[in-house]
Amino acid sequence: MIADFTYQTPTKLIFGKGVIEDLPEVMASFGKTILMTYGGGSIKKIGLYDKVKTLLKDFTIVELADIEPNPKYDPSVITGAKLCKEKGVDVILAVGGGSVLDCSKAISVCAKYDGEGWDLISGKVQAKDALPIVDILTLAATGSEFDSGCVISYTAISDKRAYGDPLLYPAVSFLDPTYTFSVSPWQTACGTADAINHVLEQFFSSPTSLFNDGIMISALRSLMTNVKIALKDPKDYAARSELMYVCSWGCNGILANGAGYSGWPMHSIEHALSAYFDITHGAGLAIITPRWMREILSEKTVERFVTLGTSLFGFPKDLPAFDMAQKVIDAFYSFFEETGIPMHLAAVGVKAEKIGEMADHILACDDTSASWVYVPLDKAALVRILEASM
Ligand code: NZQ
Ligand code: ZN
Repeated sequence: MIADFTYQTPTKLIFGKGVIEDLPEVMASFGKTILMTYGGGSIKKIGLYDKVKTLLKDFTIVELADIEPNPKYDPSVITGAKLCKEKGVDVILAVGGGSVLDCSKAISVCAKYDGEGWDLISGKVQAKDALPIVDILTLAATGSEFDSGCVISYTAISDKRAYGDPLLYPAVSFLDPTYTFSVSPWQTACGTADAINHVLEQFFSSPTSLFNDGIMISALRSLMTNVKIALKDPKDYAARSELMYVCSWGCNGILANGAGYSGWPMHSIEHALSAYFDITHGAGLAIITPRWMREILSEKTVERFVTLGTSLFGFPKDLPAFDMAQKVIDAFYSFFEETGIPMHLAAVGVKAEKIGEMADHILACDDTSASWVYVPLDKAALVRILEASM
């Protein structure tokens, strides 16, 4: 069935080879002074930095570089907001992956707020205004280019928060798959694992519908097929373009319209892992996924696994439901491993002695034990998942 919903996405997507030629016209509609944000230098290596500077030669450009993966409130968001205020910035141009986009989203609201920006990000204060954001995406993964969320880390207090507000939708996102040709095998695998997890977070909910299931199974099939092609041939345009488009659907609600809310528990767990150990988001998710699946497998959830087993993996329909579920979990584990992700948290730097503290942190940030979560997870369940993932 389709449950009631309200839906609006204001972001304009401009997709295809060479689309950034339209950049000057798009930027001119927002003003003259631009804060251009980017990461540690990948956009310079692929020639995108020079291309943007040439296209925008008639604008005033203020730059914020060195935005790190798992973008930091201090210094990046604080510095960016200060620059916007001091230089009278009209619009932010984010050029990079999800971290650059997320950092820019946080800057966009902090630039219009006179108090402590973390109060907005941590949900203590509601933002009233934001600078517009345009982005040029260079990594297919988060879906930040098409959603109203950002995820920001505050290292001093070991916190990483998912922050959502309709003010954070980018106004325009330029998606040229050729800019993802240079993404490393590791980031390609982790970005795809992130997008796969976004689908799974929404697939495991109730109620659901044939229509939603169909879209989500197609998304999973496309991601799982095309990542293998992109890992073999990083410049395969067909594969990179499908990855880019499908990833964009991850977090903007389309997949969940008319379905129950799942609570996104794997993201709650992963955000604690990267808050404590600064690990790559998609790797953490890939490692948690099969362990979370085993934890939630029950009479209530088993039909969801059966649908994945028959429709995605093509397992025989006459397999007993719980056997099918175990095969589905094993299939996801093997798939992630084949893409090069080590399937143990210890291998990405997580220390077991922090498990109890992280479980408390998860419950304090996002109440995964709440009754509205598809399968509520209390502290004991969180600890079991984390221990099994080590
Ligand atoms: O910093 P640079 O030099 O740009 O290098 C980046 C970075 O080292 C590199 N990279 C990006 N594009 C490249 C490239 N390298 C070569 N060629 C290119 N074309 O890749 C590295 C990782 O970049 P990052 O932006 O961190 O990756 P991703 O896009 O996966 O973003 C991860 C962040 O997004 C958050 C995650 O928690 C994490 O902080 N998320 C945001 C969401 C959202 N806004 O909706 C939802 C997600 O669930 C997620 O939580
Ligand atoms: Zn994610």
